[in-house]
Amino acid sequence: MSTFEVRTLGCQMNKHDSERIAGMLLARGMTAAPEGEIADVVVFNTCCVRENADERLYGQVSSLSAIRRERGTVIAVGGCIGQRDGETLLRTLPQVDVVFGTHNLARLPAMLDAAAESQAPVVEVEDPADGDFTSELPSQREHPWHAWVPIAVGCNNFCTYCIVPYVRGRERSRAFEDVVDEVRRLAADGVVEVTLLGQNVNSYGRDLYGSPRFAELLRAVAAAGVERVRFTTSHPKDLSDETIRAMADTPQVCRHLHLPVQSGSDRVLKAMNRHYTQESYLALVERLYDAMPDLALTTDVIVGFPGETETDFEQTMRTVEAARYDAAFTFIYSPREGTPAAAMTDQVPRDETQPRFDRLVSAVQASALAKNLPLVGTVQRVLLEGPSKRDERVLTGRTGGNKVVHVPLPEGAAAPGLAGTLVDVRIDDAQTWFCMGTLIR
Ligand code: SAH
Ligand code: SF4
Ligand code: F3S
Repeated sequence: MSTFEVRTLGCQMNKHDSERIAGMLLARGMTAAPEGEIADVVVFNTCCVRENADERLYGQVSSLSAIRRERGTVIAVGGCIGQRDGETLLRTLPQVDVVFGTHNLARLPAMLDAAAESQAPVVEVEDPADGDFTSELPSQREHPWHAWVPIAVGCNNFCTYCIVPYVRGRERSRAFEDVVDEVRRLAADGVVEVTLLGQNVNSYGRDLYGSPRFAELLRAVAAAGVERVRFTTSHPKDLSDETIRAMADTPQVCRHLHLPVQSGSDRVLKAMNRHYTQESYLALVERLYDAMPDLALTTDVIVGFPGETETDFEQTMRTVEAARYDAAFTFIYSPREGTPAAAMTDQVPRDETQPRFDRLVSAVQASALAKNLPLVGTVQRVLLEGPSKRDERVLTGRTGGNKVVHVPLPEGAAAPGLAGTLVDVRIDDAQTWFCMGTLIR
């Protein structure tokens, strides 16, 4: 019986797709390769949102090449690079046996068979308009208690730096009842927490009959039997007051919002095609904190977008301070061929972006710590995920605000069985990226 390994790069959408890939391969009788062993089939589920994600694939495939020659390991590349490059991927990586895209995961098993039979590379990349939702495929969830649930795929926003609309296609929402039914089934199967996925969940339903709104979906999903609901990502231009209300008065919905700001400068935001200003963004943030004073707010920031000046960057720093973020993913702008920003002439050199990036990271760290300190002494509901990486006697979990909490086990208490359960934890100490706590029950 042959073995497989799925290596995932990129966002949650890819993580979800990888669970589906694993589910399909298991369903056809393959087994997951044990840790540390090279599998018979290695599937790369790739990302091309920034250059370094791209490069990682080339490095990893190259390092597999010798083993492939020796043992006949089959290499399949899917996801966003597969979708972007198709056939042309074989020119740079001739070792690859199968190339598939973001819209035809379901074809992977058949493509593996075809490659084995013909002893030649097999490439199938579909038009983004034709694919199905991957949730209709079998799944091997990474954790039994958590599930990713796509509610929309693709993106219509065309932020000028971003490759996603080109590799994931236009936005298509999944039928309201299909989403709610899936969550009901997941709850019956022991799932405690679901994360609703879309490039822009706030525009959910605009393309569906009756135009159901995201706020309605959020309430329906929360009533479907799971204890926690998360969602990502929210585009600030489309986050409605109705959604803020739904978040605030639905206990199952976690008090965490990921609200990418990208830049604090109005000039840069306009050039990015983001459709909001610093003022409107910060006003939205205040409405959120008014409705949910305990909200954890996270964001994405890009440093060094073409034409960004010191003055523009100062506005980003101002926004970061005013928004009181709990965490932020910070990126140095990376030109992506085919996007409008890559063709802009005023690219910012690395010796200017790096110091800005470093200042930004320090500001985010300070903000994260400032948000964590008031948690000391409070009792938080924590979903335990398992033993911490460093110490078996310490359990790790997350609060509704998505903060990592380490909980040393009391003497004699047994760890097994606690993973995947919600417990109350008193927070004893807060650091920048985690808290320490005591299990109450
Ligand atoms: N749909 C989501 C995720 C997009 S990709 C959203 O709109 O937030 C995740 C993040 O990658 C983006 O928010 C952005 O901050 C960053 N990103 C996208 N393209 C980039 C580029 N060319 N260079 C640097 N960062 C980029
Ligand atoms: Fe990219 Fe913008 Fe769409 Fe997000 S909203 S996926 S950043 S184009
Ligand atoms: Fe990357 Fe594709 Fe996600 S480019 S960020 S894996 S949608």
